[in-house]
Order: sequence, then structure tokens, then C-alpha cells
Amino acid sequence: MKVLVIGGGGREHAIVWKLAQSPRVDRIYCSPGNAGIAELAECIDIDPSDHESLKDFVRYEWIDLTIVGPELPLSRGIVDAFEREGRRCMGPSKSAARLESSKVFAKEFMKRHGIPTAEYRAFTSYLHAEEYVRMKGAPIVIKADGLAAGKGVIVAGTTDEAISALRLIMKEKAFGAAGERVVVEECLDGEEASYLVFSDGETVLPMVSSQDHKRVYDDDQGPNTGGMGAYSPAPVISPEVEQKILDRIIKPTVKGLKREGVKYRGVLYAGLMIKDGEPYVLEFNCRFGDPEAQPILSRLKSDLLEISLAVTDERLSRLSLEWRPEAAVCVVAASKGYPGRYEKGKTITGLDKLKGLPDVIVFHAGTAYNDDSIVTAGGRVLGVTALGKDIRDARQRAYRAIREVHFEGMHYRKDIASRAVKG
Ligand code: AMP
Ligand code: GLY
Repeated sequence: MKVLVIGGGGREHAIVWKLAQSPRVDRIYCSPGNAGIAELAECIDIDPSDHESLKDFVRYEWIDLTIVGPELPLSRGIVDAFEREGRRCMGPSKSAARLESSKVFAKEFMKRHGIPTAEYRAFTSYLHAEEYVRMKGAPIVIKADGLAAGKGVIVAGTTDEAISALRLIMKEKAFGAAGERVVVEECLDGEEASYLVFSDGETVLPMVSSQDHKRVYDDDQGPNTGGMGAYSPAPVISPEVEQKILDRIIKPTVKGLKREGVKYRGVLYAGLMIKDGEPYVLEFNCRFGDPEAQPILSRLKSDLLEISLAVTDERLSRLSLEWRPEAAVCVVAASKGYPGRYEKGKTITGLDKLKGLPDVIVFHAGTAYNDDSIVTAGGRVLGVTALGKDIRDARQRAYRAIREVHFEGMHYRKDIASRAVKG
């Protein structure tokens, strides 16, 4: 079979790496891909938001299955466009992807279906939002309704900070139309974790749990990023907590959507806060997490092609997933300045030393070829994932490996998974 993967980050490298192990996959294409993906797939230079060109490519190359990595094409209806032409495309429809693309939709949906989440109000008027923030006081969370590349959520420690966030989003329109509405939400405390499942609209198959590290610096300091590292499993998701997540969150979400006439086919990702053993939804994503996909897919034993076909063809109930029992830890190396401005084109060295190491995998994110050398081409440059007998072991192996990699200005967190080890 021929498969096209859309995207070019660490998540997509992990997807391509896993697909490449499938005996039924003959050829993989990736749009746009990166230098690491280019070793396993043919990278094609089509913008992931150019659905027409992607559709032409899929028709011309007789692609059997497309897997969509990032949220933007999903929120713009790439799956609907492909399916109208009878093409298999793994990911939720535009309507189902509203769980991620509109926070107001997601909150109202959770309220309708009794899914545990923070208390909230939605506003289109700045004045009403400000009044509400003053009434509630801090800490409080301000969220732009639409997609804002991970920057649209401000956890405000003071009322002034919350009001500045409202101004930024609603008056200065820092996120454009994504900020026409805002959600003002109760601030929850507890421990965060990510819980992902495959869904075909009827059956859900859970993945192993994971935990992301969103802030750029150690001890959760500094601004939020796309994610500086992740590990799996997340000990905070005990079997009891997992059962609650499935019964109170995941199943009611898929069933609730179905009752509203929407089939959720794809990866459903619940970003959770676990407080005293009770899970609450912070956000939904309609795709694999990045970097979570890196440790999760490293642990997946089953064939990702078979799973993806079962999702698109709605026969997940006939499948069960197998996972490696080892733990996995992924540490992300980023460019100097990330998540702010950064330079590109820095030569990356040391990657050869990691080739062939057992259970150490380098997933590229922002990398490109420059003649024969590999150079940086993005904020998050690569992630080093290692498996080990437990999180402590995996963590040591991941850090030992990443110390071999160098590029000018490289930085990474030194405390990925340290809480899980202490715990
Ligand atoms: P989101 O993009 O909605 O996941 O939000 C980004 C980050 O903001 C989350 O990973 C949390 O760390 C934080 N966050 C979001 N909502 C809340 C909330 N209600 N209470 C506390 N922290 C939150
Ligand atoms: N790592 C968080 C996300 O993928 O949204």
C-alpha cells in the first residue's frame, strides 16, 4: 500500500517510522516532511494547507491512505474533502475537529454531556468578559476560542494579568478571528496528563498514557511551548483513574458526538488535569500529540497501518492493541530563542553516534538537508526517545543519548520525567 503522511514534525516522523515497519506498506510519502523523515519516506513539497494540490497528488499517485498529523488541515476539512473523492483519510471531519478548533464548542459540548471540566463562561463582548474576570478574581484562565498555535491559553495569576490577556485577544486581536470569542475558565490544580485513543466513531481503543512538559525551562518555568518532552506511561493515570477517564470522558464524548450526528474517526486526545484521583478535561485535541506521539508510538507493537485502516473503515472493534511493557522518555532539543524568535541553518552533529543504539530513536522535527549536512530548520529541532525497563532507566538512556547531539544554541530541559521518577 501507498501511504501519505501530512506534516513535518516529530509527531509525523514517529508516524512514518512506525508505518515503515508495516509489512503491508510499500511506499510512504510525506508532505512536507523533514531530514529525518526523508530517510524513510519520499518528502513532497506541498503545503499541508493546500488541500487541492494534496488531493491531486493522492489521485495521481494512487495513494491508499492519508494520515493527517497537525490540527490545521483537519480544522479546515481536509478529511471531508478527501472523503468526497472516495479517498481514505485518517482523522476527524471538520465538524468533529471542532472539539479542538473551537474551545467554546468543546466547553458547551462537555456541558451538554456532563463531561467533567472546569467551570467557565464564554464571551464575545470585552466589557462583559472583563466584568466577569473582576467578579471571579485570580487565578483564572483565559482562552481564545480558535486555534492559536498553542499560544491562545493564558493561565493568569492576577486579575491584571487576566485583563491584559483579554485585551490582547479581544482588542488587539493578537490571534485574529480565533479571538472573537473567549472562554474564561476556573483555574484547576492537580497533575496534568495526556490520554489518547483511536476511535472509529463507535469503538475506542486506548493508547498508553503519557505526560507532556509544556513550559520551556526546567521546573515548569518560562513560556509555554508545543512541548519540550514527554514520557509514557504517566503514573498519575492509575488503572482506577483510567477507568474514570474512559467512562466519564472518552466514551461519553464519542457517543455524544454520534448522538449529535457526528462520527469521530481518528485520534482523540484528552488533555487532563487529575485532582485527587478525579480527571477533568482541560482541552481536546483531534490528533496525536507532539511530542507525546514519540514515546507512545515507540511503545506500540501493533501495526499502525492496520489500525489506521480499521479507523477509516470503521472496524476497530475487531482489533486489539499490543504495547511494549517498557517505559519511554522523549527529550526535545530546541533552537536558541524558542518559543520566541530563533535562527535556522545551524549544523547538527553527533546524530551518527546514536544510529544503531538499541531502543534509542531520534525523531526529527525542524531539520533540513543542506548539501550533505543536516541543519536546524525550526524551533523544536528533534526529540530523542529512549525505552527502558522503567521511567528512570528510559530517562537515563534518553539523556545519555541527547548529550551526543550538538548544534549552536541547542537547549533542552534537564528534568523531563523527573517527577515520575521521584513519585
Ligand atoms: P490548552 O491549550 O487548553 O491545553 O492549555 C494549555 C495549558 O494551559 C494546559 O496544558 C494547562 O497547563 C493550562 N490550562 C488550561 N486550562 C487550564 C485550567 N482550567 N486550569 C489550569 N490550567 C489550565
Ligand atoms: N503536546 C501538546 C499537543 O500536541 O498539543
